[in-house]
Amino acid sequence: MSPHKYSQLIVASVLALIVGVLAHDVHWGDIGPGNKVVAFERVTRKPNPLKLQFSILTNVKYPPKGHTSIYNLTGIRLVDNGLPNNYGYAVLKSGGPGYPYSTIEIKSQRNKPINMSISYYASALKNRRY
Ligand SMILES: *[C@@H]1O[C@H](CO)[C@@H](O)[C@H](O)[C@H]1NC(C)=O
Ligand SMILES: *[C@@H]1O[C@H](CO)[C@@H](O)[C@H](O)[C@H]1NC(C)=O
Repeated sequence: MSPHKYSQLIVASVLALIVGVLAHDVHWGDIGPGNKVVAFERVTRKPNPLKLQFSILTNVKYPPKGHTSIYNLTGIRLVDNGLPNNYGYAVLKSGGPGYPYSTIEIKSQRNKPINMSISYYASALKNRRY
């Protein structure tokens, strides 16, 4: 790793402490074997060529538009697929584990795309079909 890259990484880590979680692979709540994936969403955005100096900021909601949640979430897992070339930040803004909804705010680096995937978990014991 070049010294420049390395210092970028440190800056990013320090920034992450301030503005949120450096996404990489984070989870909130419980995503153990007693939980099942009830929704999956891939979040991809390209930087706007007219606004390259800005980060992309986007709110990702559960349930997705047009869907009704029948589960209280037990956990959420977010994986940043952009690594190692670009990485984003993620903050759980509302809801999440214990709630039937959530809002995650995702932020890119300046002039970089977002490529993340989010898995939502609920208890495998509830809402059984049998
Ligand atoms: C979700 O949690 C609330 C509050 O604890 C509870 O009243 C409700 O029955 C739960 N819903 C489901 C589908 O488990
Ligand atoms: C996002 O990352 C996945 C996994 O690395 C890759 O397969 C996919 O092509 C990427 N999508 C975009 C839009 O870059």
